[in-house]
Amino acid sequence: MTEFGGPEALHIVDVPPQPLSPGHVRLRVRAAAINPTDTQYRAGAYTAYYPDETAPWIPGMDAAGDVVDVGEGVDHLAVGDLAMAVVVPHGAYCEELVLPGASVVKAPAGVDAVAASTLPMNGLTARLALNRMSLRPGQVLAVTGAAGAFGGYVVQLAKTEGLTVIADAAESDEELVRSLGADIVVRRGDDVADRIRAEFPDGVDGLADGSVQGPLVLPAVKDGGAVSTVRGYAGDEQRSVRVFPCLVREISQDRAALDRLRHLAEDGAVTLRVAQTFPAEQASDAHRMLERGGIRGRLVLTF
Ligand SMILES: NC(=O)c1ccc[n+]([C@@H]2O[C@H](COP(=O)([O-])OP(=O)(O)OC[C@H]3O[C@@H](n4cnc5c(N)ncnc54)[C@H](OP(=O)(O)O)[C@@H]3O)[C@@H](O)[C@H]2O)c1
Repeated sequence: MTEFGGPEALHIVDVPPQPLSPGHVRLRVRAAAINPTDTQYRAGAYTAYYPDETAPWIPGMDAAGDVVDVGEGVDHLAVGDLAMAVVVPHGAYCEELVLPGASVVKAPAGVDAVAASTLPMNGLTARLALNRMSLRPGQVLAVTGAAGAFGGYVVQLAKTEGLTVIADAAESDEELVRSLGADIVVRRGDDVADRIRAEFPDGVDGLADGSVQGPLVLPAVKDGGAVSTVRGYAGDEQRSVRVFPCLVREISQDRAALDRLRHLAEDGAVTLRVAQTFPAEQASDAHRMLERGGIRGRLVLTF
């Protein structure tokens, strides 16, 4: 973008190549997944966070493509590898990227760049949300927004760790959310906390709030329980629950976590969902489609 605004603010610009520094990787991007945060950034919602940035502003936090160069000290990737990366703070909608090596790992075997680009950002955020709550096998985790990218990965990761998962879904998403591994599915909505309490009268041990319902979901959690939030909500101090606002940048250079996501995708424990691809030139159309809502799986730009 050279101006913030609606979807039409997205257009093609030429940017100079970045130098490759030690510890970094140059990626010829083939695919960049579109996330809800990209539309916020495009609209100018984050200018206060990045006051020093100047135009052109490039959205995107998820990329996959071919490794074309590796800097000194990078030994886990080689030229020619198909790789996936989390791009922090943003900038993934770009034909070529230079990224810290710790944010880039091989794409899961047998997965193309389009599908691989849907994993890093939300997979890592799901990992962070679970890390913060530190639940033990057998404990109960509730997940809202479970049909979404973040929520879906939380459900799948939680099941690999022996948690009991209760997740919300619209009627039309119930089968999807069950297929992700949720043990119990309740109807989504403003009263989701009541529905969760109906299943677990003492409250759940943890809750990952992918639907960003904030105070509405806290009553689902038992006293002393934990909540991970993804848009800054930090709790209301009315309840003795521990609320952890999670930011993917806190885990964006955890290469081991990114590699584990790769292995889980290869094992089928984590599934990658693509709704539709768009050539990068049609990014505006893709943003329009995302903002209309109801998309299941990620929209992905191809380069
Ligand atoms: N802090 C971070 O670092 C970080 C990282 C990743 C994601 N996030 C944030 O996490 C949130 C989820 O991301 P995502 O990519 O998973 O989004 P997504 O794929 O759109 O999933 C969100 C899900 O929540 C549902 N939902 C929305 N509002 C709801 C409501 N009021 N009640 C019940 N369900 C509702 C959506 O349904 P509909 O599609 O039908 O509305 C969708 O199924 C976003 O706000 C994103 O920006 C933050």
